[in-house]
Amino acid sequence: MSGGSEDSGQLTWVPAAAAIAREAGARLREYYAQGVETEYKGDVDLVTVADRTVEKLIRARLGEAFPQHGIYGEEGTRDRLEGEFRWYVDPLDGTTNFAHGFPHFAVSLGLEQRPAGLAADADGTLVAGVLYDPMRDELFTAERGRGAQLNGKPMHVSRTGELAEALLATGFPSRKRHASPNIHFYQEFTLRSHGVRRAGSAALDLAYVACGRLEAFWEFNLNPWDTAAGILLVEEAGGQVTDYAGRHYRLASDEILASNGAIHEELVGFFADMFAGRGLAPIPTPQEYAAYRASRGA
Ligand code: IPD
Ligand code: CA
Ligand code: CA
Repeated sequence: MSGGSEDSGQLTWVPAAAAIAREAGARLREYYAQGVETEYKGDVDLVTVADRTVEKLIRARLGEAFPQHGIYGEEGTRDRLEGEFRWYVDPLDGTTNFAHGFPHFAVSLGLEQRPAGLAADADGTLVAGVLYDPMRDELFTAERGRGAQLNGKPMHVSRTGELAEALLATGFPSRKRHASPNIHFYQEFTLRSHGVRRAGSAALDLAYVACGRLEAFWEFNLNPWDTAAGILLVEEAGGQVTDYAGRHYRLASDEILASNGAIHEELVGFFADMFAGRGLAPIPTPQEYAAYRASRGA
């Protein structure tokens, strides 16, 4: 199955990685159609045979296509991490969706270039990103300096210049859920924008910012395999990726804020206000609402 004529003539890594992502995505579609059993990695952190098998497939294929490159995968692959190039691999971003039959998940492959001598905890440069949504047959690709594409056609972030007119996305952790303050941000952003989607795939959230379907995305505590490909997509599509204070984003960061650029400053100001407890919009508590219902005879 092929969704587009990727014009990848000038590109170095995307053609091979796109073929691998498509093959991996085809495997996910098969598992999705047949249904798979779910195991727990912790709390509500799910994993299936599809996550593990598809990571093995990607590991083998990347190893064939780029024998010198390192691979860092969510399901445990740690190959050749001392080298100049490193792929961050999420074989299935959106496992919870996948396990429930909710058709929104993706394969994510992000390539980092790490010059010799770089400290182990320092970031290199993201140079390629490939993200494939097998249910919609949408392939998002980018190489640094070469722009970003959706099914081979150039894609760009939206031009929306105000948070009040923005559609946003976020996600919630599947571990230590009680330690996350994100529901407060979800509430406030919902009240100040066209809405906040929680669709369950951080990789696709980033791809959707890159192609202009969303104006911004934020999340706490993601991992490099969730974000590496999507960050480059957003940057190459003309957007911006930072932490919540507007500082340079690092792959090990606990916070990611990606946007079309036009509303980035407003978002950063909003985060500063939220962390300082300024200007929060009051809404009724359930008890207050219960009193209101009772007053109406409900
Ligand atoms: C998850 C998804 C989800 C996000 C979680 C991630 P996984 O990845 O990206 O949208 O909210 O934080 O862990 O576990 O499905 O690969
Ligand atoms: Ca993920
Ligand atoms: Ca995953």
